[in-house]
Amino acid sequence: MSGYPPEMQDSIRKVEATRARRIKETVTAMSLEEREAILEGFHPDYKDETFHAIRVGASKGQRMPIELAKIVEGHPHIGPDFDLSAPIAETDVLIIGGGGAGASAALLAQEQGAKVTLVTKLRFGDANTMMAQGGIQAADRPEDSPAIHYLDVIGGGHFTNVPELVEALVMDAPFAIKWLEDLGMMFDKESDGTMVEAHGGGTSRKRMHSARDYSGAEIMRTLRDEVRNREESITVIEFAPAIELVLDDKGQAVGAVVMNLETNAQQYIKAKTVVMATGGSGRLHYQGFPTTNHYGATADGIVLAYRAGAPLGYLESMQYHPTGAAFPEQIVGLLVTEKVRGLGAKPVNKHGELFVYPLEPRDVEAAALIRECQERNNGLVTPTGQPGVWLDSPMIEMIHGPGAIQKALPAMVRQFGRFEIDITQEPMLVYPTLHYQNGGVQLKADCSTEIPGLFIAGEVSGGVHGHNRLMGNSLLEITVFGRRAGRSAAVYAQGVKPGKPTLAHLDIWNQELKETEVDTGVTSPILLPDYTRRE
Ligand code: FUM
Repeated sequence: MSGYPPEMQDSIRKVEATRARRIKETVTAMSLEEREAILEGFHPDYKDETFHAIRVGASKGQRMPIELAKIVEGHPHIGPDFDLSAPIAETDVLIIGGGGAGASAALLAQEQGAKVTLVTKLRFGDANTMMAQGGIQAADRPEDSPAIHYLDVIGGGHFTNVPELVEALVMDAPFAIKWLEDLGMMFDKESDGTMVEAHGGGTSRKRMHSARDYSGAEIMRTLRDEVRNREESITVIEFAPAIELVLDDKGQAVGAVVMNLETNAQQYIKAKTVVMATGGSGRLHYQGFPTTNHYGATADGIVLAYRAGAPLGYLESMQYHPTGAAFPEQIVGLLVTEKVRGLGAKPVNKHGELFVYPLEPRDVEAAALIRECQERNNGLVTPTGQPGVWLDSPMIEMIHGPGAIQKALPAMVRQFGRFEIDITQEPMLVYPTLHYQNGGVQLKADCSTEIPGLFIAGEVSGGVHGHNRLMGNSLLEITVFGRRAGRSAAVYAQGVKPGKPTLAHLDIWNQELKETEVDTGVTSPILLPDYTRRE
């Protein structure tokens, strides 16, 4: 029995009928000009009317999605007179965020001798890291090199990346893989013990290391276990989102006010330095898109760092993953890993026709899927009105043999199997889904920011990927820059002389909102998506 309703099965028959022919069929990758044209025509980032230039703060004029601008321009939860005289804890390094970047930072800061406190909004590990599937890139084979990885990253980012950040990313990558493996990460291996490495969209060498399609979960498991092993010097506080950064009278970051999500108590944690690793903003559902992101991805770090004076960048650029689930309704927007295409499954329209090279860079591939549905009317529409095209997963076993799907993609098999869809026999319906924010707080290679004592890492930052990130470079980013941020923060903590804590920056912020008559009616950070039932 199939979980697809009869009206969708007619189209599946056409996909089946053309499958054998399609194994050999190819579509050439687009030229640069074709890529630019399809992006302009169909990528959501090019819909000008859905963007807004912010009117206050250090990056006045920066364009970003309207939904994000509304909260970036928001009002603080607390006033400048909030009592900072009795902190609930004191630490050397305060890390805000319990995903892969925060955990990596905690480990490296601890190794430098720092006392570390990690606060996280939900549970430790509730983060986009946990939900990442496909893998982590690193050039560690003889036929590859960090220089080739660098060129792929820069090309994928349309040559808009910050070069020093890309250099840091690719140069540290082989070491990051070794570090994770030494900590106990179970990478996929060939029978001779070497790493399994595959292609992703826009990569010119096979360098995607994976743990089946649970790569992010396996990284998070490894890092979280290690943080817990070091509980004598790393304290983890869950359900305690930061609601404001605290600076001192010299403008240095010296901690944060956090909110106890159970009691709503607002309390100051004093620190010598702060690492911001709060992740992205997919739960803002730009332009109504569904998302692959975890529940807490609401741009908190961007709001806090910006209000304290850190400039932003690249926020006019969001990543829509080409293949989010489009059916059944219960999983719309959830990730269908790029690894499915890496293994040979091709995107085909409702007539069973291949219409795009399967491994274009993400933004181009997403735009091609949208065009196929919107302009060419070759997509299928589900009974609830969701458009989509087929990702023909059974091709994988025609190429790699029986059992290949279960072996490489157990998470996908399970995700669809719960709804009676056997992806070894039937294709998956997919459509682009909001996946990643390419921009954020401006990052430097040592993870410092314009605010002394504030370090950042991971999706909250912007610059390394330019205007388009390639697959596998975010798990790499959280590891590389998480480690760098932790090390930089701990070294900084050894030398800094903190002054008197103050929230004077809120006075300046409130004054600017008043003078510019900006009032979005939002108190931010919003902490949870606006469709959360408060009770
Ligand atoms: O398709 C994926 O597995 C996603 C990976 C990534 O965003 O890096």
